[in-house]
Amino acid sequence: METTVDYDVNQAALDFIKQSPKSLLIDGQWVPAVSGKTFAPLNPATAEVLTHVALADKEDIDLAVQAARRAFEHPSWAGIGPHERERFLGRIADLMETHAEELATIETLNNGMPLAVSRWLVAEAAKVFRYYSGWPTKIQGNTNPIDPTGFAYTLREPLGVCGAIIPWNGPLFAASWKIAPAIACGNTVVIKPSELTPLSLLRLGELLLEAGLPAGVVNIVPGQGSGAGNALVEHPDVNKIAFTGSTAIGKQILQASATTLKKVTLELGGKSPTIIFPDADLNKAIAAAAMGFTQGSGQGCVCGTRVFIHESIYEEVAARIVQIVKKLILGPGLDPATQIGPITNAKQFQKIKDYIAIGMEEGCTLAAGGSQAGTEGYFIQPTVFTHVTNGMRLTQEEIFGPVGVLISFQDEADAVFQSNDVQYGLSASVWTKDISRAHRVARALQAGSVWVNTIFEMDAIFPFGGYKQSGLGREMGEEAITAYTQVKSVVVRY
Ligand code: NAI
Ligand code: MG
Repeated sequence: METTVDYDVNQAALDFIKQSPKSLLIDGQWVPAVSGKTFAPLNPATAEVLTHVALADKEDIDLAVQAARRAFEHPSWAGIGPHERERFLGRIADLMETHAEELATIETLNNGMPLAVSRWLVAEAAKVFRYYSGWPTKIQGNTNPIDPTGFAYTLREPLGVCGAIIPWNGPLFAASWKIAPAIACGNTVVIKPSELTPLSLLRLGELLLEAGLPAGVVNIVPGQGSGAGNALVEHPDVNKIAFTGSTAIGKQILQASATTLKKVTLELGGKSPTIIFPDADLNKAIAAAAMGFTQGSGQGCVCGTRVFIHESIYEEVAARIVQIVKKLILGPGLDPATQIGPITNAKQFQKIKDYIAIGMEEGCTLAAGGSQAGTEGYFIQPTVFTHVTNGMRLTQEEIFGPVGVLISFQDEADAVFQSNDVQYGLSASVWTKDISRAHRVARALQAGSVWVNTIFEMDAIFPFGGYKQSGLGREMGEEAITAYTQVKSVVVRY
């Protein structure tokens, strides 16, 4: 690991983080937790405490849900037209762009990801608000055929209070996927960031108020999953839960939501394939494959953690991926030289080290990395295992770390079979210049997103979500408008 060098750090971000303890945003006010408890998010590059944050629990969730319900019915929100909602969303996007460097710095300090990645994700998050700022005036019902004695039409209405629960790997981006379509449709929101990474969302909360969003439309309540998270899922006055996180907790949330029959969307884990055919542009394919499992230290649901390489080019491609991975520069996310930041938290750090040990036990060949790096913070060397088969724990289970496995395949059918032979189905990256093969494989893959000759294409313009155990429902695009509304049929007899 490189040692720290001198670089400028955005002062507004440092000033924001210094204000301590931070409060919950409930009903347009910054308030302490009812219990008075706080917790201390860390900088994963140093494992040092950044600041203190009010810890929401059941009582705070109840207050936030009550505020969201009042806001949902209040004339300042329920009584405004779609043009007004468009203006709010546009102002939020403007403010995120104005404060992009500050938001990105806060994200990097708390999550660890390199500043370049944070900048990209903040820009994408602002784009999600920008995209949904165009929707409110286009949310329409239909007139339906009926006999001449009457008239039938549909109204597309908001759901009410939407609970959002997001993880620590890309907080602002994940939050934008939920807040933007929810409020575009006229809902109100109670959002619980991860207890590990609440800071960027608390700054977003200030910007939401600056944008003039009425009190209670968005409430931000950092807390533990077992406390605040569970209370939100079980609350009888919450109409929908949108969750991003582990498949295991997603299943628990679906079960817990059943008692009050909430609408549920789940964005869960992945074990995504990157498939390299012999006719691919190998320079691009190899660069993308290496980035696929190392970007964000592999802590992304869409990471391309299983790389399938045609047997005729396996040795060459594997050697070149290993070569790239070995040269990646580890360091604190704020250092402009850094390509790979720390793991976001101690628990995840340990989990990755355990999986590397499992890979060794399973007899895979360790071709790069394999160890923790440095003496402070949670750094793990980007790691590559070669001569791996698809049936191992290393290949079947989500590690959520910078660990790639390189697997060979015989032909197209074998590549598709192995790619699909996993419980997950979130995304896939396919590398070939054969246009027929590209479309054939895209259809055959069981994944919610297929990227041909590219990777990590996520845009508010089109839907995103999982096949199989990678999720339930879709976010983004027009699909999210459907997911945050319900349809009423009205029949009038003359
Ligand atoms: P997690 O699924 O436990 O946490 C995600 C969010 O859910 C957090 O805000 C957490 O506070 C909340 N939560 C936890 N338990 C809850 C409950 N019973 N009710 C309501 N909310 C609850 O993920 P965790 O433990 O941080 O990471 C474990 C593994 O999950 C990772 O190693 C990774 O494999 C996977 N993961 C996948 C993510 C993805 O984007 N697909 C994101 C984060 C984790
Ligand atoms: Mg957990």
